[in-house]
Amino acid sequence: MAEDLRKPFVCPWWLGYFLLIPFRRLSQDPEKILTPFVREGMTVLEVGPGMGYFTLTLARLVGTSGNVVCVDVQEKMLSALLKRAKKAGLEQRISAVMADEDSLRIEGYAERVDFAIAFAVVHEVTDQARMFEQISRCLKPGSMLLFSEPTGHVAPEEFRKSVEIAQSKGFEVANTLHIKRSLTVLLRKRGRE
Ligand SMILES: C[S@@+](CC[C@H](N)C(=O)[O-])C[C@H]1O[C@@H](n2cnc3c(N)ncnc32)[C@H](O)[C@@H]1O
Repeated sequence: MAEDLRKPFVCPWWLGYFLLIPFRRLSQDPEKILTPFVREGMTVLEVGPGMGYFTLTLARLVGTSGNVVCVDVQEKMLSALLKRAKKAGLEQRISAVMADEDSLRIEGYAERVDFAIAFAVVHEVTDQARMFEQISRCLKPGSMLLFSEPTGHVAPEEFRKSVEIAQSKGFEVANTLHIKRSLTVLLRKRGRE
C-alpha cells in the first residue's frame, strides 16, 4: 500500500481566538492544570501555544525571575499571544520563537528547561519523533513534559503511538493526568531523578 504522505492539519490562526474562550476554563482550567508543576524562577517551554491560552498563567507562575519560551509555526499566533501578554504586563517573562516544520529553533536552550508543555499540538506535526527529540534535548534530566491531545481529534490508539514515539526519544511515562476532553500524560525525561 502507498505511504500516506498527507501533512497533518495545522490549526488555522483565526481558530486561535476560539481556543481562548472563557467557557474552556470549565473543563481545562490553566491554573489547576499547571500549578502543581510550575514554580517561581523556572524556565518553561511551551510548544504550540497558539494565542496563549496557557501562556499567561505560565508567565504568572514563573514570576519575575522565570521565563516562558513559546514556540509556534504561525507568526499570527505569536503576535496575538504577545499582545495579550503585553496587556497583562507579562511580556518581559515571555520569549517568542518562530519555528518551522523542520525545527523548533530552540537549540540555545539545551538542558536549560525545567518544565515543558505540548497541549493540542503534536497531532499537527509531521515528524513527531523529531519534535519529541528536540523537546527532550532542552529539558533538564528528570524534568517533565505535559503532553496532551484533544479527544475530538486524536483517537486513543494514535495517542498511544505518540507516547511510544516520545518513549523512543528519551521520555518515560511518569503519570496519567485527567483533564476533560483530552488524553494526557506526564512524561519525564530519563536521566537524573
Ligand atoms: C490547536 S492549537 C493549540 C494551542 C494551545 N496549545 C491551546 O491548547 O490552546 C495548535 C498550535 O500548534 C501550532 N503548531 C502546529 N505545528 C507546529 C510545529 N511543528 N511547531 C510548533 N507549533 C506548531 C499551531 O500553529 C497552533 O498554534
